[in-house]
Amino acid sequence: MTGGRVIHNLALVGFMGTGKSSVGQLVAAQLHFRFADTDELIEARAGKTISAIFAEEGEGPFREYERAVVDELKNFHRTVIATGGGLVAHEENLLRLKTHALVICLWASPETIWERVRHQTHRPLLQTPDPTAKIRQLLAEREPFYRQADVLVNTEMRSVKEVVHQVIHQYRLARGHPSHP
Ligand code: S3P
Repeated sequence: MTGGRVIHNLALVGFMGTGKSSVGQLVAAQLHFRFADTDELIEARAGKTISAIFAEEGEGPFREYERAVVDELKNFHRTVIATGGGLVAHEENLLRLKTHALVICLWASPETIWERVRHQTHRPLLQTPDPTAKIRQLLAEREPFYRQADVLVNTEMRSVKEVVHQVIHQYRLARGHPSHP
């Protein structure tokens, strides 16, 4: 399964609102790993919020920040990495993550995603007149990339605790130690 890769990190990919950050923090705590969030790394380096980057520089420059952060991640060890929802839609980013991390995609339907994000305002791509249509469109475009993750975990009808358990189980299986990180 790992095909010569050196897996010492766990990367969570998937659409906005699938729980990457909340699940990732809990997984990191249980594995005694560090937790990193690519959006937070970008904000720290840019000195401004993701919304400000989109508003002042645009999506293209934001994707460049993402690429630069992906490059830095190869130096991380024993870290759970939550990635921005569009990061793996650039295949090179996904391939790079796979060199050091088990890549787990958290999945949810457009309806569930909308329920989870509808009261949040910090996602520039959803600040449109018809956010549900945007979710469907982006999810359809990105699905082929999300499906290239090592493992797909459906978060529908599962509690956060169950998703965390499933992610840890998959990581331990990949590492060949079903009961230890
Ligand atoms: C984006 C998702 C966001 C953030 C940015 C763009 C996307 O991250 O990176 O707003 O393209 O789907 P989350 O998935 O953590 O919301």
